Amino acid sequence: MDYLHEPRIQPLFHDLLAEKKLELAILRLDEVHPLVSGNKFFKLKYNLQQAKKEGKSMILTFGGAFSNHIHATAAVSQIEGFKSIGVIRGEGTDSKNPTLAYAREKGMELHFVDRKTYREKNTYSVIEDLKQKFGDFYLIPEGGTNGLAIRGTSEILGEKTSSFTHVLTPIGTGGTFAGLAESLLPSQTLVGISVLKGEFIRKELEELMEQQEIRPQGQLQIETQFHFGGYAKWKPELIEFIQWFWQKFQIPLDPIYTGKMGYALWEKIKNDHFPSHSKILIIHTGGLQGSQGFTHRTGIELPYSFKVK
Ligand SMILES: Cc1ncc(COP(=O)(O)O)c(C=O)c1O
Repeated sequence: MDYLHEPRIQPLFHDLLAEKKLELAILRLDEVHPLVSGNKFFKLKYNLQQAKKEGKSMILTFGGAFSNHIHATAAVSQIEGFKSIGVIRGEGTDSKNPTLAYAREKGMELHFVDRKTYREKNTYSVIEDLKQKFGDFYLIPEGGTNGLAIRGTSEILGEKTSSFTHVLTPIGTGGTFAGLAESLLPSQTLVGISVLKGEFIRKELEELMEQQEIRPQGQLQIETQFHFGGYAKWKPELIEFIQWFWQKFQIPLDPIYTGKMGYALWEKIKNDHFPSHSKILIIHTGGLQGSQGFTHRTGIELPYSFKVK
């Protein structure tokens, strides 16, 4: 799998940035590939190579009904010639769900499990049951996060981003944050905005980085106060921010991940979190397909239209 477009670094200009003497840019990973956008491109890349190396013909993975990871895995499996199985949390009664409709269209077989089984998805017995049912598969965990995904996300930063002092990313399962942490320079601070409610993410990330033997050279900050009530929860000010950001910069943000990061960024700029002369890079991790699901669930239209083929 290759980039269709090299990720570009797009500078953003605004009076507040000038007033605070800050530079801001956004790394447009949402543009790298039309079907496998954002961090998914990096998380899936080495996993697919590994599946091929192991001679597997089937990919099995897990996700919620509006998951970006399910969407991307379905698309990329088809491109790379794998059969794909999506184990989905909850009931499959909503036939109009755009994410699942798309996954089916891309040939993914959907297997719905109750919440208890889903919680136990990493246990031996659940995996064995899945093997009995579907046969031999290459397993990619929920959200795509594993060692190979982190190897992929550690390639997001590089020479072109070396002059930035601060890098911001949303945190879900933490695989993207861990990969960015791995390639961070001593002069850089990585700020992760958790989209989930709770402090547990700090310990989870610590464990993940320990397990992957990641010893970051720069500073790490994890922010847990921008979840808007929890995963996929929202408040009107989040949607207003996404609308404002689109009007100002013509950059689409989704309400689940990048919108929360963007909101956090702007709050932090207003509150003088960044010393003057900081050069801030925000990572657009993609996820725009989730906006269709958001509109489907809430009836709220976002200011941009997003269609994948
Ligand atoms: C668009 C988007 N951004 C950010 C993330 C968070 O990434 P991670 O799970 O690696 O923390 C996800 C979820 O995987 C996502 O879909």
